Amino acid sequence: MHRATRCLAAVQHVTVLGAGLMGGGIAQVAAATSHKVCLVDVSSDVLDAGLKRIENSLSRVARKKFRDNEEEANEYVAATMVRTAACHGHPMGPFQLLDYVGLDTTSFITHGWARDYPDVELFQPVKSIDEKVERGEMGAKSGKGYYEHK
Ligand SMILES: NC(=O)c1ccc[n+]([C@@H]2O[C@H](COP(=O)([O-])OP(=O)(O)OC[C@H]3O[C@@H](n4cnc5c(N)ncnc54)[C@H](O)[C@@H]3O)[C@@H](O)[C@H]2O)c1
Repeated sequence: MHRATRCLAAVQHVTVLGAGLMGGGIAQVAAATSHKVCLVDVSSDVLDAGLKRIENSLSRVARKKFRDNEEEANEYVAATMVRTAACHGHPMGPFQLLDYVGLDTTSFITHGWARDYPDVELFQPVKSIDEKVERGEMGAKSGKGYYEHK
């Protein structure tokens, strides 16, 4: 029992084949427990749908977990999504990842960081993200962000 526990603790990366109900749930739990997750499926459309399902589920969890703190809830969803990548055989780029995390969520977080760390240049809001949010381009959830999402 002790040995098995030590062995599992060493697992850092999880690859899940199939982004359906079971695979999405497994990916979500793995990402929420700090694993880096690679989610694989047969097409981008199926992967997008799987990631959207995970995002919705995480939002429900976050609303219960951080009932009184919207900022913490958004950070929980964003941090968990960042650990979950759609894997098409090549890594997701930073702008695609931002689209999946949600540009409104990212904007909300960077403004929080800027307020808490006004002197740290790295934590200042990103103009191109804020402009997109103002235009209603939130990423995958709105159909457009840095990329078009059908
Ligand atoms: N849903 C349940 O409650 C449940 C319970 C126990 C076991 N299972 C089993 O778990 C498995 C998945 O069930 P589910 O409910 O998540 O199904 P699902 O149909 O929701 O998801 C299956 C996913 O696998 C993908 N897929 C198929 N072939 C693939 C391939 N070669 N490479 C990558 N992805 C591929 C499909 O595109 C689909 O998105 C099934 O074998 C099912 O019998 C499901």
